[in-house]
Amino acid sequence: MLTLAGRSFVVAGGAGGVGEGVVRALLRAGARVIVPSRERARLDALRALLGRDADGLHTVEADVGDFSSCARLRDEALRAHGTIAGAVSAIGGWWQGARLTRVSSEDWERVLRNNLHAPWVFARTFLEPLHATEGATYTLLSGTAALEPVVDAGPSSIAGAATLMMARALAAEAKGTHLRVNTLVLGPVRTRNTRGPGMPEWLTADEVGAYVAHLVSDQGRMVSGAVVHMVDRPAPVRP
Ligand SMILES: NC(=O)c1ccc[n+]([C@@H]2O[C@H](COP(=O)([O-])OP(=O)(O)OC[C@H]3O[C@@H](n4cnc5c(N)ncnc54)[C@H](OP(=O)(O)O)[C@@H]3O)[C@@H](O)[C@H]2O)c1
Repeated sequence: MLTLAGRSFVVAGGAGGVGEGVVRALLRAGARVIVPSRERARLDALRALLGRDADGLHTVEADVGDFSSCARLRDEALRAHGTIAGAVSAIGGWWQGARLTRVSSEDWERVLRNNLHAPWVFARTFLEPLHATEGATYTLLSGTAALEPVVDAGPSSIAGAATLMMARALAAEAKGTHLRVNTLVLGPVRTRNTRGPGMPEWLTADEVGAYVAHLVSDQGRMVSGAVVHMVDRPAPVRP
């Protein structure tokens, strides 16, 4: 049986749509989960959504895209939990709005800040304590736009591609150590923020969470340096 009892994980972006599924799955496996957000109200909303699963949730008002705030989060997590068994980077968000030649510099800078700079600050802050912890994991969530350009969403694809390469570089740098760095490349995910029903083949945030919980557990210990594509749920067999 999958258990993460006694282990503590930091989920950056845990107050977001996909992050919620990751946080729920880790909590249900018995982990303690530290979730930062820039907004207290988002953390309170997450706690309410989790209901009885929220035992073991530790929320911290922090900005993982800011070096000093992210360092305070790390220090608080280490003080409260002793060691951190894993960090999950579910940071960023989708932007689609204009051809690359018409993107404003404000939109360009915001998308790169949210989808590239913040994941880098988070990785830079948490990789060191993770390297010091036996069996630790670092898991980054990315999207298929990192691989395939989407019209009018150029900055999202560019930031996603750079962040995917960052994760691969981190995995290369961790090779030969005990730290397992893995990346999930996700297709569209149905979250609480999805407008409408989505498509039947889309994964749900809880399904992504279940896979993350498996990957960071002892059951996933043979997987290291992987880029796992989770694009569509397979269609059911037709009679
Ligand atoms: N939703 C999908 O269909 C989908 C598909 C493929 C891949 N993904 C990937 O899944 C991850 C999460 O996506 P999502 O849909 O869950 O997004 P979301 O609901 O918008 O949540 C994004 C989270 O990222 C954090 N964040 C964004 N910009 C930040 C910044 N500049 N500094 C610090 N924190 C920042 C937010 O933190 P605060 O709480 O502080 O605001 C928020 O919790 C992303 O990496 C995305 O590429 C999502």
